[in-house]
Amino acid sequence: MPIYRAHVLVCGGTGCTASGSGEVFKAFREELAKKGLDKEIMLVETGCHGMCEMGPIVVVYPEGAFYCGVTPKDVPEIVEEHLYKGRLVKRLLYTMPEEMLKVPHYKDIPFYKKQHRIVLRNCGFIDPDRIEEYISRDGYQALAKVLTSMKPEEVIEEVKKSGLRGRGGAGFPTGLKWEFAHKARGDKKYIICNADEGDPGAFMDRSILEGDPHSVIEGMLIGAYAIGSDEGYIYCRAEYPLAIKRLKTAIAQAEEYGLLGDDIMGSGFSFHLHIKEGAGAFVCGEETALMASIEGRRGMPRPRPPFPANSGLWGKPTNINNVETWANVPPIILNGSDWYAALGTAKSKGTKVFALTGKVKHTGLIEVPMGITMREIIFELGGGILGDRGFKAVQIGGPSGGCLSEQHLDLSVDYESLTGAGAIMGSGGLVVMDEDTCMVDVAKFFLEFTQRESCGKCGPCREGTKQMLLMLNAITKGEGTLEDLDKLEKLAQMVKEMSLCGLGQTAPNPVLTTLRYFRHEYEAHILEKRCPAKACVALIRYTINPERCRKCGICARNCPVGCISGDRNTPYVIDQDRCIKCGTCIEVCPFHAVEKI
Ligand SMILES: Cc1cc2nc3c(=O)[nH]c(=O)nc-3n(C[C@H](O)[C@H](O)[C@H](O)COP(=O)(O)O)c2cc1C
Ligand code: SF4
Ligand code: SF4
Ligand code: FES
Repeated sequence: MPIYRAHVLVCGGTGCTASGSGEVFKAFREELAKKGLDKEIMLVETGCHGMCEMGPIVVVYPEGAFYCGVTPKDVPEIVEEHLYKGRLVKRLLYTMPEEMLKVPHYKDIPFYKKQHRIVLRNCGFIDPDRIEEYISRDGYQALAKVLTSMKPEEVIEEVKKSGLRGRGGAGFPTGLKWEFAHKARGDKKYIICNADEGDPGAFMDRSILEGDPHSVIEGMLIGAYAIGSDEGYIYCRAEYPLAIKRLKTAIAQAEEYGLLGDDIMGSGFSFHLHIKEGAGAFVCGEETALMASIEGRRGMPRPRPPFPANSGLWGKPTNINNVETWANVPPIILNGSDWYAALGTAKSKGTKVFALTGKVKHTGLIEVPMGITMREIIFELGGGILGDRGFKAVQIGGPSGGCLSEQHLDLSVDYESLTGAGAIMGSGGLVVMDEDTCMVDVAKFFLEFTQRESCGKCGPCREGTKQMLLMLNAITKGEGTLEDLDKLEKLAQMVKEMSLCGLGQTAPNPVLTTLRYFRHEYEAHILEKRCPAKACVALIRYTINPERCRKCGICARNCPVGCISGDRNTPYVIDQDRCIKCGTCIEVCPFHAVEKI
């Protein structure tokens, strides 16, 4: 095997690809060849590093130099200075926003310091298209261990002891679920990987599949061996073309190496894996709807029991787990359940991957130990609130999660604490909101999503979410009453309790948590006809402060509906009847004379 003196890792995740990393990779290949360095420097296209907004990202080892926003034009300088002369290209290194300090090594970047990467251990480090790279990082050793030295019952026991819980949302103990499927009677059993990832803004599962597809395949193989299955499906949304491409390559390579297919490693154990592309309906992430979709039927949930473990795909015993759950399995088997269970809290073990988004300085993909606090995530990893505005809330758990307030900043991030506060862990969406966010509007935004995605099968969800939305719409327009708040709360509880599937059962969460922690904002909309965050369009007005206005006319020239009048001698005014409240005037006025009231 050739030995290289340096490695250049160019991020090939979806975020960096969108910002042009493909061209950067090409430029490196050409420049290294031109300089005759292609035999001593290894060029690798990796998965996501988690800091997509800074992309394209290039990491150079052995130093671990973390270059951000690299363009093809920067490549000759990196090659000449760093790879030829051994000098870091300072201007491209990650910069700490407050101190404007350059951080040479990626491990010293605050965004990475508190992370504990188990699931993301290979993302950003290996070429996901080369099985050899996965194998070189202990890949498929856990499979070899179970096939050569463990009985299926022992594998299940190990996963049970690890305390691993499903990362797809509900947090059901994984080992217990495997035991149900193992004990179920049936000559044919299926394994499914849920890669539907329907939460808006979430990209945890996509990044794992793009950056380390073999870890998911290996996890599924171990699960299949444990429950006694010989066939499985990965249900992945068609909007993830890169993840699907990498999965296809990984499956083909694993088959070629004898790690998938018949008589794996000569053990007598056989497992065949297929990919099923979903059309992107949120409800198809629900396990019974997902299975209906694989069978070629319309993706609609059905009542349980029977549970998939007894009657799942085509009526056969089936075990379904989320992408992140599967990717946790190989390290648990390899390092032992005690190692895994030592991380986290009493009932929530291990780590969790989150997509940190919203009004934080550093957005991106993070993997943190369970039990970390919201404050640590938002203010240490995330670097605090964008523009140093005040923190208002954090929405956790995707569209059906809850909005937590300042009082929860020191709350431990684990299944029990989050549920106790009215939120859910969900699959890992974390949206941070600042003081300019209207919480009634936020509740409306998430409910609009779940209402639109409701499959319509059961009345409480179909009709209840619609009525709730009508009430929220009225409140944001200043047309609500205090009685509406009581009605809203009662209806939300009813939808939660009476809906058929998890979509309806959790859709009211954003409404209930905002009513619980931000009731004063609802009351201000109703009683004072005022949106405290000045976000609800119907309750705000734009006016021009005559003392500040310099009569330059810029606002009038930019107003899309021409509703601003004035000239050098006449003060500029906004015709409130024609104003569409688009906010252009406030943005363009160079003298801050336009006010939002
Ligand atoms: C409306 C709805 C959408 C869901 N979407 C997903 C999803 O995108 N990915 C996922 O893994 N689980 C999703 N789930 C949870 C799954 O139904 C199921 O519980 C999960 O895949 C089980 O895997 P786990 O035990 O590893 O978490 C969804 C549930 C509901 C009710
Ligand atoms: S852009 Fe500002 S200063 Fe100029 S006319 Fe409009 S309000 Fe006055
Ligand atoms: S808010 Fe929009 S429509 Fe109204 S005055 Fe300003 S630019 Fe014109
Ligand atoms: S896609 Fe490159 S850092 Fe996420």
